Amino acid sequence: MMAKIDLAGKPIAITGASSGIGAATALACTRAGMPVALAARRTDKLKAICKAITDAGGKAIAVECDVTKPEDCERLIDETVEAFGSVYSVFANAGYGAKHDLLDTPEATLREMFETNFFGAINTIRPAAELMKEQQSGHILICTSCLSALPTPGYSIYSATKSAQHHIGRALGVELADNGIHVTTIHPVRTRTEFFDTMRERQGASGRDETKGQPPGKVARRVVRVLQKPRPEVWMSEPTRRMMLWAAHLPRVTNRYIFGRHKKPM
Ligand SMILES: NC(=O)c1ccc[n+]([C@@H]2O[C@H](COP(=O)([O-])OP(=O)(O)OC[C@H]3O[C@@H](n4cnc5c(N)ncnc54)[C@H](OP(=O)(O)O)[C@@H]3O)[C@@H](O)[C@H]2O)c1
Repeated sequence: MMAKIDLAGKPIAITGASSGIGAATALACTRAGMPVALAARRTDKLKAICKAITDAGGKAIAVECDVTKPEDCERLIDETVEAFGSVYSVFANAGYGAKHDLLDTPEATLREMFETNFFGAINTIRPAAELMKEQQSGHILICTSCLSALPTPGYSIYSATKSAQHHIGRALGVELADNGIHVTTIHPVRTRTEFFDTMRERQGASGRDETKGQPPGKVARRVVRVLQKPRPEVWMSEPTRRMMLWAAHLPRVTNRYIFGRHKKPM
């Protein structure tokens, strides 16, 4: 059996670290002894999390980064190396969702989601992977979703971005295996973060999202565990994974009995 990797001193860069899963993962990685580079657009939030980490004796830097800009992602990797000497891992986590029927969606909205969720992940991964190839070691993590497995009405664009992330993650893992680089796709189910508030805001709805979900710390702990014992995929709910795969393989039944009966507004 493969020995557990000691993460102490191994730097990680995390996008979407100003809230939710990214912020929780930064804290969990710090507890495992990893220096952390936190990246997002809201630097006030990043700086507050950095301060909490450094006050507790950890190592952290905040890097302003819009993942749709390749030059920001390159700077994230450069600043991580400058601060901590190398990059062992990168977590392409930044992303958002929105509910749209395809034909009601303006072209710009559709492209914007792919720019952040899909191309943003590639922008993040590319400069890190180049460095990892030189090091002949590293671990790339991509935050996709349980929806990666199932085209979902109202969320077809979001689930397409997540499916695309899943596909590149799985393939990249094989392409980079000879370089000593692991690749893992993370598939959360509903998680209590700002995700659903952002989604409501984007759709012009007021108020906070009050629905329940798993705490982001639960995803963060699984991220640390997979860094210690690498594998290609982490699904946060095995029953959901089975249900999604079953539904994807039985389109007529799914369309009629699952999607047909749950066509309700958000
Ligand atoms: N919550 C769920 O139920 C759920 C389920 C499945 C998958 N996921 C996935 O989990 C990931 C994290 O989401 P979350 O649930 O933690 O939601 P969240 O709390 O809303 O966090 C999203 C993060 O992405 C960042 N972000 C968005 N656009 C960005 C951009 N252009 N450049 C840089 N950063 C950007 C945001 O930071 P700034 O606004 O400060 O830039 C924020 O830190 C996403 O990829 C999401 O698709 C979430």
